[in-house]
Amino acid sequence: MKHLDICDILKDPAYVGKEVVVCGWVKTFRDSAKVAFLELFDGTSFARLQVVLDKDAISFDPECTRLGASVAVKGVVVKAFKGEGNELNAQQLTLLGKCPGDFPIQKKRTTLEFLRTIPHLRLRTNTFAAVFRVRSVAAQAIHRYFAERRYYYMNTPLITASDCEGAGEMFRVTTHPWKTDCKSEEEYYKNDFFGVKAGLSVSGQLEGEVAATALGRIYTFGPSFRAENSNTTRHLAEFWHVEPEIAFAELPDVLEVAEEMLKYLIRAVLNECPEEIKFFDSFVEKGLIEKLEHVATSDFAVLEYTEAVKILEKENKRFEFPVSWGCDLQTEHERYLTEEVCKRPVFVINYPKGIKSFYMKQNADGKTVAAADLLVPGIGEIIGGSEREADKEKLLAAMRERGMDLSAYKQYLDLRTFGTVPHGGFGLGFERFLMYVTGMENIRDVILFPRSVKNIM
Ligand code: 4AD
Ligand code: MG
Repeated sequence: MKHLDICDILKDPAYVGKEVVVCGWVKTFRDSAKVAFLELFDGTSFARLQVVLDKDAISFDPECTRLGASVAVKGVVVKAFKGEGNELNAQQLTLLGKCPGDFPIQKKRTTLEFLRTIPHLRLRTNTFAAVFRVRSVAAQAIHRYFAERRYYYMNTPLITASDCEGAGEMFRVTTHPWKTDCKSEEEYYKNDFFGVKAGLSVSGQLEGEVAATALGRIYTFGPSFRAENSNTTRHLAEFWHVEPEIAFAELPDVLEVAEEMLKYLIRAVLNECPEEIKFFDSFVEKGLIEKLEHVATSDFAVLEYTEAVKILEKENKRFEFPVSWGCDLQTEHERYLTEEVCKRPVFVINYPKGIKSFYMKQNADGKTVAAADLLVPGIGEIIGGSEREADKEKLLAAMRERGMDLSAYKQYLDLRTFGTVPHGGFGLGFERFLMYVTGMENIRDVILFPRSVKNIM
């Protein structure tokens, strides 16, 4: 159907006097003796177009006036009778789809919890439409950021036989029927589709390293899968993952890219979604714009893990999980560091090797690895990254310490055999980023159909 977007014709004076067609859903209807008014939205912005119906001039199906009904209107654009912008004098109003009275999105504000039970309809609300317009703009900005700096865009496999993070949180991929009578795990997988145990990838990093150690700079942007049993407001079983990988780079280079990229993305969202961000500032997180402006213009802090632990140990009384050197940081610790201590985003670097992945570069102290997590107020970890171990012998030692099956990593080790280079990268959780820029507090509200423990609607 040929039609125009409401966001275009609403403000532009060039449309005044022109005959146009718009399509949308009914938000409100007001009736009087001679004229009636419909307000339509079409998802292209918050704005609604007022359609003026001269009841002497046109007739229409009363179903066209119900909240949520979908309609097409042909009419002439005129300057709004009241207020700014344009409205439409209808010549023809056509019903596209009826909307019965039990439509769950009613005018009164509904709770996010309720809307989560109707993921297929919640985008018809202002809040969710705004979230997903921001999501689209941010995704485009990610591609632009990397393209402008000559990073090549890679598509890494989603089905894999290696568990990148080594934490055993992979979903299995199998074609076996639920009933099998195998004697051993090996026998089970031998007869399975791939002939070995396979799963959904938790990260594209290992394959990203393959590409970076040939093309220089690459990034991936795709889904990652985690079967971790954490039913929190920050974890999904399926999330979107931005993973740049950079050859000839050491940890400080990785931090520089992470900080620059994040600021670029925030700036893009502020510039390209001003209405949405204003909406979130008013209705979701007071002070959001100020927060984002502040982050986009100030330097991120950098804190050694060992320093961070010293700071946290002094406050151990306030934490559910007390801290000591060697322990992994919990969200409560991360948030304390970024919200109370640094009051801005902070990279915590050089973690104990025992709590980080096998592939991270081992520092000269023999105790820590060149890892970096970026923590931000309100969320905690938003980015995890590191310099990679480029020395084959050291990498082998780390893998043996963890009891890993070396044969499964032959290709990964080859990268260290043939012209190894210092390199590193990081992963940004796209939904965590969206929570940060929209102020939405539950990760399930920034992805179309959230997948999490016991939830696959
Ligand atoms: O810290 P993670 O596990 O790091 C990696 O996967 C590395 N291979 C990345 C790399 O160096 N290329 O994950 C990176 C980020 C986290 O900081 C977090 O933002 C996000 O991915 N993330 C999740 N987001 C939503 N739900 C989950 N279950 C997530 N797990 C990680
Ligand atoms: Mg991490």
